[in-house]
Amino acid sequence: MTAANSEQYTDIVSTDGSALRNPNGPMGWGWINHASGAHDAGGANNGTNQIGELCAVLEALRHHHDSARLLIESDSQYAINCSSTWIRGWKRNGWKNSQKKPVKNAAIIKAIDWETTNRPGTVSFKWVKGHAGNKFNEIVDGLAHGYSSAVEAGTKPGRMPLEGWQTLLDSPYRQGLTVPPEVLRQVATLKPGAATAPVRQPCAQQPSIQPARSSATGSAQLPARRAATLKRSTIARHWTQGGIMDDATRNEAKAAQDALKKEAGIAAARLVKPGMAVGLGTGSTVRYLVDELGRRHQEEGLDITGVTTSRRTTRQAESYGIRIVDIDDVGRLDLTIDGADQVDANFNGIKGGGAALLWEKIVAVNSDRYVWIVDRSKLCDEIGAFPLPIEVIPFGARHVVSRFRERGYEPVLRTGEDGTPIRTDENNYIVDLHLGHIDHPRELAQDLISTVGVVEHGLFLGMVDEVIVGNPGKPAVLVNPLKR
Ligand code: 5RP
Repeated sequence: MTAANSEQYTDIVSTDGSALRNPNGPMGWGWINHASGAHDAGGANNGTNQIGELCAVLEALRHHHDSARLLIESDSQYAINCSSTWIRGWKRNGWKNSQKKPVKNAAIIKAIDWETTNRPGTVSFKWVKGHAGNKFNEIVDGLAHGYSSAVEAGTKPGRMPLEGWQTLLDSPYRQGLTVPPEVLRQVATLKPGAATAPVRQPCAQQPSIQPARSSATGSAQLPARRAATLKRSTIARHWTQGGIMDDATRNEAKAAQDALKKEAGIAAARLVKPGMAVGLGTGSTVRYLVDELGRRHQEEGLDITGVTTSRRTTRQAESYGIRIVDIDDVGRLDLTIDGADQVDANFNGIKGGGAALLWEKIVAVNSDRYVWIVDRSKLCDEIGAFPLPIEVIPFGARHVVSRFRERGYEPVLRTGEDGTPIRTDENNYIVDLHLGHIDHPRELAQDLISTVGVVEHGLFLGMVDEVIVGNPGKPAVLVNPLKR
């Protein structure tokens, strides 16, 4: 295949990372070539979603080291920015971020840099919205999630690029990490801090699934011309063979999580008594709560006054005939029930995944009792792995983003499918900070809220009275001892 021939087509590859309990839990990575259906996946029993996302990009690059144009699709703005824009500044600064601290996950990012720089063909990246009906994004999510579940179940061994193992071994996730002995030997031979040294070998620990291999580099890619003629049905066969998570299993896992959300939502609805003024949060868990309140309103005549934290929840509640009023038309709310994106043992949480954090916080501080409903995947030792949403006014937003970048907060302006910034119910923007972990949440909260242009941040520190956690069988209730 000559360079001229191969430049006539573009390989499109979807990548994804997954973490069952982020951080500190089984993690996975996966990629799939749209045309050939070739794919690969791996993971480890402890890590983070971000490491999974980066390993997916690295492995996709390694398996497509040829002169074709390569388009990598990812739903991780973090992975895309690490692989394209941020990398330039980090290289200039000797792999230090703007706070002069070492760049997180640098071993993997350096390897990505080597691959993109030395690849004969061009590489570009495209962000796609996750779980939004993009077929290949769904497939690759199944690959990554499937591998992390298999590692957790002990049916597959840890399987990572060496730089992925190296990153994990240099991180707090080392504790409890199961590393194959030969990997330990190989990692020991890597030069510490090597900026560009490629580790161009197949990913450590081969899994039982072996996609079609075609070249000396161990690529899972099919020859280009053949790939172009493969039918869609081939794609399905490639990724379902060998026991990786198929549609049915993935749907089952999602259904199990939804069942826990529903259980928490229904349990929380029992706290609502006739005549109450109730704050109604936002999100997929709260949808179950509102469904149940709607059922009780219609079947039992439950009479409440609701104040919502988003127009979405207003529409849903009103569709059941529940009375919704403006927050300024009531005094204190008796009770507010909302979801959360992460909760730690000190009852600190991150909210705003649904871009409703401003109204959510206003409603929360005007409530006598404040309750969160979550499925157990939201519980964590330390918040920060979930990108921290910040609501900023559009005027001067780019300057606010620059300021965050200078402070090493790794900000990403949240955009919709059309690439334009999403707007909150107050018509503001959301900037997500990819912090990884937050050592001093209160200092960070202070810093964020005193930044001109910031309207509110998604840190909800020690505010919640109780957390109702969906658990198979019976929901658990965690009570904040400091709020009793
Ligand atoms: C919206 C929120 C949500 O409560 C949070 O994102 C949890 O959502 P879900 O219940 O869908 O997981 O903060 O801004």
